Amino acid sequence: MHIAVVSLFPEMFSAVSEHGVTGRAVTQGKVAISHSNPRDYATDRHRTVDDRPYGGGPGMLMKIDTLRQAIAAARQAAGQGAKVIYLSPQGRRLDHGIAASLARETGLVLVAGRYEGVDERLIEAEVDEELSIGDYVLSGGELAAMVVIDTVTRQLPGVLGHAQSAQEDSFADGLLDCPHYTRPEEYQGRHVPDVLLSGNHEEIRRWRLKQALGRTSERRPDLLEGRAMTAEETELLAE
Ligand code: ADE
Repeated sequence: MHIAVVSLFPEMFSAVSEHGVTGRAVTQGKVAISHSNPRDYATDRHRTVDDRPYGGGPGMLMKIDTLRQAIAAARQAAGQGAKVIYLSPQGRRLDHGIAASLARETGLVLVAGRYEGVDERLIEAEVDEELSIGDYVLSGGELAAMVVIDTVTRQLPGVLGHAQSAQEDSFADGLLDCPHYTRPEEYQGRHVPDVLLSGNHEEIRRWRLKQALGRTSERRPDLLEGRAMTAEETELLAE
């Protein structure tokens, strides 16, 4: 997959392109991340990339022409049919399912805004989908774009090893994750649950599923609404 980022701050993206799971995916060629900076298309002496909003008010918007050209270059880089996403608090809220469907695209263009935002006509003309990463305001779309890059990349084939496959991620099954334990067996008077020391893989699987169900129903009951339960899940949740 090719992910072409449109941002005034491409350096920020080293956080995902040079570290951890996503950094390795880049090194292994599973994902390519390229950058397109509106500043590179500014022609005036000050390399202006912002402009005043009609109607007045505080704050500036992204200047149309430099942003449009940066998006055009990003489209080229991401390849034919690339999906153009604008990160903003007004967008559809990102979740695991959306990330999974984005992972099936061959190219993405992620537009990270700065200032008070982007001219609505540019969004209408250029953007396929507006996405939010949550109900709070960030100072720019870069962190949100990195969240998209991370969660999409880890779902690309071969990025996670078999043992930690994306199918094992919490949310892949619509549930929160179960609790995890490592050494020592006793920590500050608290013990690792016996079942995890039992070596009985079937019992361990059932215990983990029960924990995941219990946590989800306690902490995020909304996730269970409209989610079909298997007979085993219903039984474990009722136990
Ligand atoms: N840009 C600023 N805030 C944002 C948010 N919550 N989600 C996506 N992009 C944003």
